[in-house]
Amino acid sequence: MADTPTFVRDRLAAIEAAGLLRQPPTIEATGPVTGRVGGRDATLFCGNDYLALRTDPRIAQAAADAAEAHGGGAGSSRLIAGSLAVHEELEAEIADWLGTAAALVFPSGYQANLAMLQALAGPDDQIVSDALNHASLIDGCRLSRATVAVVPHKDRRAAERALSDGAFAERFLVGEGLYSMDGDRGKVKDWMWAVHNTGAHLLVDEAHALGVLGPAGAGVAAERGAGHLPLARVGTFGKALGAAGAAIATDAATRDLLVNAGRTYIFTTGLAPAAAGAALAGIRIARSAEGDERRARLAGHARRIWNGLLDAGWQVPGDEDTPIKPAIVGPPEEAMALHHRLLEAGLYAMAIRPPTVPEGTCRIRITLSAAHSDDDIDRLLGAMGSPDTVPRP
Ligand SMILES: Cc1ncc(COP(=O)(O)O)c(C=O)c1O
Repeated sequence: MADTPTFVRDRLAAIEAAGLLRQPPTIEATGPVTGRVGGRDATLFCGNDYLALRTDPRIAQAAADAAEAHGGGAGSSRLIAGSLAVHEELEAEIADWLGTAAALVFPSGYQANLAMLQALAGPDDQIVSDALNHASLIDGCRLSRATVAVVPHKDRRAAERALSDGAFAERFLVGEGLYSMDGDRGKVKDWMWAVHNTGAHLLVDEAHALGVLGPAGAGVAAERGAGHLPLARVGTFGKALGAAGAAIATDAATRDLLVNAGRTYIFTTGLAPAAAGAALAGIRIARSAEGDERRARLAGHARRIWNGLLDAGWQVPGDEDTPIKPAIVGPPEEAMALHHRLLEAGLYAMAIRPPTVPEGTCRIRITLSAAHSDDDIDRLLGAMGSPDTVPRP
């Protein structure tokens, strides 16, 4: 094998010198919110399994049934021979859930966001993108070759100004239903006005909101009574629904355009049948009365930790009732030191550093699950202490 080139070592060394080197930890799950991390038993506060469906036996059974019926993989891209009955059943279920005429399934949310922006926007168009949008939306903007204006987070006036500036064939405003690093809802109604006043189209990524917020878990646009207004909404199956994959919910003609122009739909193998079967089972639970009970438990946990962190003096961005709770620490070394202190106490919550979040806003990002207990949350609050007790390396 060839020697590693010098530039690879140099670049890695630069990342390490900045305190930003990352490695994926191996986690052996021992329960919905417990696992062994680096040989140590821990309660996990860092997954996106908000409704605690990922380890539910009904989801595993649905995955096994779909694999048995349709095989281990789709076998080809959807447009060749990989469009299976289970994909179509899943698309019908999502369209019904979100109240759209159609939906299109993708192997991942990352690919769905790329396709949404690349297939709908082109070099003659403009995309106005919220400053805190996820990397997949940023990459979708790049792939579209549209003119991109990044506007301050949830600033309606800035969005409207940007959308009114210049001559473009089409204009798009893109934001998230629930922001993944700050835990706050996107201002869907403000965005609706901005697109209404400027003739633009609204695109919303509901990755963290689907299953979690809104009536029957249908997301933030639905919660705001505006589910019918975005041109397209992305929902992912790998978070609250306990599976993998994603879909774009939209009208029938826009779905057809995505099928014909979406590069990450056309040039990739269709979603694995097991993932599609698991997603279907996850959606059916999420939409049911049981889903409502899980959402209520989750919102209760969110309020408990929100109040506890604020009382201890932490700066906690976001909305009170959402399951993403960032406690701002500041420098990366201090965020890592607090992460290690938590781990020693048997609590696993991620330290998030640039480039995922802006410089100076490193944080412990706590995410909650309906499977956590009040006692789990109180133990975490105890171990977080206050900002004054953060270890200074
Ligand atoms: C806001 C947001 N959109 C999209 C994605 C991508 O979804 P997936 O994990 O299914 O690729 C993620 C995270 O993974 C996300 O946080």
